[in-house]
Amino acid sequence: MITAHRASILHFLADPDLVKQGNVALEACYQYFDDGLLITENGHVKAVGDAKALLATLNRDIKVHDHTNCLIMPGFIDTHIHYPQTEMIAAYGEQLLEWLEKYTFPTEEQFEDEDYARDIAERFLDELLRAGTTTALVFGTVHKASVDAFFKACETRDLRMIAGKVMMDSNAPDNLTDTPESSYIDSKALIEKWHNKGRLRYAVTPRFSPTCSEAQLQKAGQLLSEHSDVYMHTHLSENLNEVAWVKELFPERKNYLDTYDHAGLLGKRSVFAHCIHLDDDEWQRMSDSQSNIAFCPTSNLFLGSGFFHLSRAVKQNISVGLGTDVGGGTSFSMLQTLNEAYKVLQLRGEQLSPFKGLYLATLGGAKTLDMDDLIGNFVTGKEADFIVMDKASTPLMKFRMSKCKDLFEQLFVFSMLGDDRAIKETWSAGKMVHARDK
Ligand code: GUN
Ligand code: ZN
Repeated sequence: MITAHRASILHFLADPDLVKQGNVALEACYQYFDDGLLITENGHVKAVGDAKALLATLNRDIKVHDHTNCLIMPGFIDTHIHYPQTEMIAAYGEQLLEWLEKYTFPTEEQFEDEDYARDIAERFLDELLRAGTTTALVFGTVHKASVDAFFKACETRDLRMIAGKVMMDSNAPDNLTDTPESSYIDSKALIEKWHNKGRLRYAVTPRFSPTCSEAQLQKAGQLLSEHSDVYMHTHLSENLNEVAWVKELFPERKNYLDTYDHAGLLGKRSVFAHCIHLDDDEWQRMSDSQSNIAFCPTSNLFLGSGFFHLSRAVKQNISVGLGTDVGGGTSFSMLQTLNEAYKVLQLRGEQLSPFKGLYLATLGGAKTLDMDDLIGNFVTGKEADFIVMDKASTPLMKFRMSKCKDLFEQLFVFSMLGDDRAIKETWSAGKMVHARDK
């Protein structure tokens, strides 16, 4: 089954920060075809290039989708999000620890019921695809049923997703806690059932050190040692009160990161959300262990957590992806996430170029999730997950785009003015999974 899509096409081949380091020219980091063609076959990329040249090679009976005034890019990758928190996005007035108590825990109690969980999972996936996100690293709740429901919903839609059951045995309501042993047994059963089933993968998911006993963190480490290719997904150093609390709870550990390190939770498939208040030692250990960071600007601003230091991560050679962190985050849209990322970095006196921003939202996210062999750009053979972005999605965007003199400006306008309205279509494994106008 071959299909072709004609539009402007952009995808990344390398990190634009390599340019700053003098290693490559900017043009070597991306490919852009003003009049481009993306050809997919059986859910994978067959070719990408200039439309005129490629059309000449194409059998005449193959359907060409014409997306005039649109930009095709790889699907966005959200490296940190909570599906059960869909219904509590935009909850007023608190910072992290109080917000968890007041809004998050009561919401998550409902996910013991698999039917309820399935309904929210479907709504969540609708929102992700509407925003142009085709892959995400996703928190469930403490309930095994929440993850079964989520993976079933993803499997039906054939999406590439990673998720896991929350491990949480301390400092949370009784009906939201497991035990080190039960969390091990439930996580293991979920790994055996879902990890590498079709396009799905599993992440061992201790919520964060304040809600995990030492014994439970050790159990998480045991799961990772018994299943070498599963992921580890947690929160780290998001809020100053949280950091102080970890110090109290784990006096024998050197720092917050060490509570995870001591249990063997660091590595190439480990993703730590936030990482705002790291000390020098933690930055270095993140780097040495090849651990990854999810930068979640809308959440960090909404919960008043602080400003992530992107250039420090770059300097330390740590892989960073973007996360919405819904429901701490305020939008499913990676474009809106880029908008706030730009502002967070402005407050640090740093600029986030639209090339770097859109790299983070695609290939950078794929590298953070150790999936850049499968998704993140249009290299031949990769999975055909892509979005069609409309340069005229609102009257203001249309007008502003008409004044842009080059690609750089157009991409910046997308990332400042864009949201779900800019996503005209979303395609996953070569099939359309969202159409804005239908
Ligand atoms: N830290 C522990 N749990 C959570 C959560 O649900 N959201 C955020 N943003 N931080 C957390
Ligand atoms: Zn989170």
